[in-house]
Amino acid sequence: MHFFEYLNNQLYCENVPVSEICRQAGTPVFIYSCKTLERHFNVFREPFEKVDHLICYSMKACSNLGVLRVFANLGSGADIVSGGELYRAIKAGIDPQKIVYSGVGKRESEIDEAIDADILMFNVESEGELETVNQRAIRKKAKARIALRVNPDVDPKTHPYISTGLKTNKFGIDISKALGLYKRAQVMDGIDPVGIDCHIGSQLTELSPFRETVSILKELLKTLRQEGINIKYLDVGGGLGIPYDQETPPPPSAYGSTILEALAEMDVRIILEPGRVIVGNAGILATEVLYLKQTDDKTFVIVDAAMNDLVRPSLYKAHHTILPVIRPEDLAKSELLIADIVGPICESGDFLARSREIPKPKAGDFLAVMSAGAYGFSMSSNYNSRPRACEVLVTGDKFFVVRKRECYEDLTRGEQIPGEIIK
Ligand code: LLP
Repeated sequence: MHFFEYLNNQLYCENVPVSEICRQAGTPVFIYSCKTLERHFNVFREPFEKVDHLICYSMKACSNLGVLRVFANLGSGADIVSGGELYRAIKAGIDPQKIVYSGVGKRESEIDEAIDADILMFNVESEGELETVNQRAIRKKAKARIALRVNPDVDPKTHPYISTGLKTNKFGIDISKALGLYKRAQVMDGIDPVGIDCHIGSQLTELSPFRETVSILKELLKTLRQEGINIKYLDVGGGLGIPYDQETPPPPSAYGSTILEALAEMDVRIILEPGRVIVGNAGILATEVLYLKQTDDKTFVIVDAAMNDLVRPSLYKAHHTILPVIRPEDLAKSELLIADIVGPICESGDFLARSREIPKPKAGDFLAVMSAGAYGFSMSSNYNSRPRACEVLVTGDKFFVVRKRECYEDLTRGEQIPGEIIK
């Protein structure tokens, strides 16, 4: 459930008409609903309330400081994957003791920053990384808490680009090598092995891969404890999908009971790294129609948002529902179009939707690209020298610009023309 709804044919975000935001903040604009963020976080947390747990919101999904602060206020930690994300998380007020650091390519400087911040743990993805974390920690006379991210070779049944738990993926440590590496970690001076970590993929719409993964992790946990390795945290990653179109992902309650049943009474703190399931349907991208273009074969609705703002349709052929911000009074009588909804970027791959039926819009109308809260702004770029969109957070009947629209000066910040080539 989210708080983007029509009232008298006007799309609202909570109590604010989306058209009002478009007029005042301009387009394209990402709009997040605070009430939805909170609701999704609480619904996700609910099944885990009865056990020892920590939610580390996977901030790559949407890392705006305002959004992060909403989660920090709810007691959330963060799953980070870079020094930049560490910087943002701390700036937003997330407790470093609730931060886990994932990712296959952590640089020494990033590892140092995380050791200095005394984060909860590193999710180590290779033998080489384990050695580097050890060395950096020894230099600082620290002990870095770590989990090994294991690769259980479970098929998450999702888009191949966002599947991570298969042997052929670059992520994690082969489950068969885990025990050996934990034994090495145990005797390293700069390492304290305290956790097991796993993340098998994103936008999962079935529970069975989660069930299978957690039972594998449970067996590893038992083995490690028998070996005298004191595992306190079991990080099951993120990955629960959301409905974009026809998908029917299980609700968080079913996800929660699946994880808890598969783990059955192991005395361990469960860490969860949800991203999309919390923010995906809590945000939209609003855009203005620039032109309607009719060719012999097709109708194009050209809008001012493009693949640089929301790359998911181009990159994954992802479906995003597109709705008029102001709906025709009588939908039944309105003229419907089957159109490609495309942006201004100079690539045929720049589309937000293809062959989509929508009420015929006219230039100047606003459209809402739904479910754009996750991997929307956070994956946006400046391609074609397009300033990145602004981000707005709505709470009740108020809205706040939580990131200004970029200006042309932002586009060239840091660039210079060397004196030698000035003629
Ligand atoms: N933990 C780790 C280690 C991850 O790599 C990810 C996502 C998550 C948690 C959060 O997964 P979620 O709960 O959001 O499924 N850009 C793609 C999705 C990439 C996901 C990357 N990792 C998309 O737009 O679909």
